[in-house]
Amino acid sequence: MNSGQPQQRRIALITGASGGIGADLARVLARHGHDLALVARSRDRLEALADEIAASGRPRPIVIALDLARPGASREVAATLEAFDTSLEILVNNAGFGLIGAFAELDPVEQSGIVDLNVRALVEMTAQFLPEIRAAKGKILNVASVVSYFPGGPGMAVYYASKAFVLSFSRALWQELRAEGVVVTALCPGVTKTGFQSRAGFGPETALNSMPAQSAAEVAEVGYRALMAGRREAVPGLLNKITVLALPFQPKTLILRIIAMLQQKHRASA
Ligand SMILES: NC(=O)c1ccc[n+]([C@@H]2O[C@H](COP(=O)([O-])OP(=O)(O)OC[C@H]3O[C@@H](n4cnc5c(N)ncnc54)[C@H](OP(=O)(O)O)[C@@H]3O)[C@@H](O)[C@H]2O)c1
Repeated sequence: MNSGQPQQRRIALITGASGGIGADLARVLARHGHDLALVARSRDRLEALADEIAASGRPRPIVIALDLARPGASREVAATLEAFDTSLEILVNNAGFGLIGAFAELDPVEQSGIVDLNVRALVEMTAQFLPEIRAAKGKILNVASVVSYFPGGPGMAVYYASKAFVLSFSRALWQELRAEGVVVTALCPGVTKTGFQSRAGFGPETALNSMPAQSAAEVAEVGYRALMAGRREAVPGLLNKITVLALPFQPKTLILRIIAMLQQKHRASA
């Protein structure tokens, strides 16, 4: 029965949607009929993606240009959405970055910025929107990483630790919320060709640059399917799956040494 009240706009919100995996997650969600809100700092790139989605015949996404690493950003996002009378059904916590280099040598403020975005903003966004998501029996997709499964990441220490947090946090929420029909999925990509590598400071010599990489579109497709299937975690790509399965049987000292080798002395500026 129609109560005569205007319908709230049911949306999926994607953080870090201005490029890379987030932009492709937006494209996949739009293709499957979801109305979107896109968040990142680069307004121009968000507007261009919103235009592209609108041109494909879907509703034009809401664009929110914002630095999520700032405390209280999640409240700003909620306040902006209030003006559009939305109800949030899907939250995609994708925004994140890393920095390559030894912990002792990298800028401490920049390194804390990784925790601010990858960890604190993700927790704040989840807490902010969980009541709406629970009411809608909705879904949360947290973009972790294949590195979440590693014993540690010498050469990208804060980044690996932040992604271990994301996987652990997501698994706990998956269990806490599943009985009431809310899905929480951790998407754990391996090397993916995006803006991530240049922001992290990878140089042409960085060994990780020559590792087999997936496209952001492939990763986004896997993430969307896993979320819709209610899976706890998803690792895109056969090689990444094998790595994750094999890791618990390898000596941690050896793994840490290999990672250190792959990630040492190869910053763009080094
Ligand atoms: N690429 C890989 O190999 C890989 C592998 C595993 C996991 N991941 C994870 O995948 C996620 C997406 O990364 P990506 O590979 O697609 O990298 P990307 O191309 O650099 O995209 C990162 C996105 O996050 C946004 N972002 C960065 N800082 C932000 C801030 N302070 N506030 C709001 N938005 C911010 C960026 O937009 P603006 O710059 O416009 O703000 C951009 O849209 C990250 O969590 C990353 O850790 C990546």
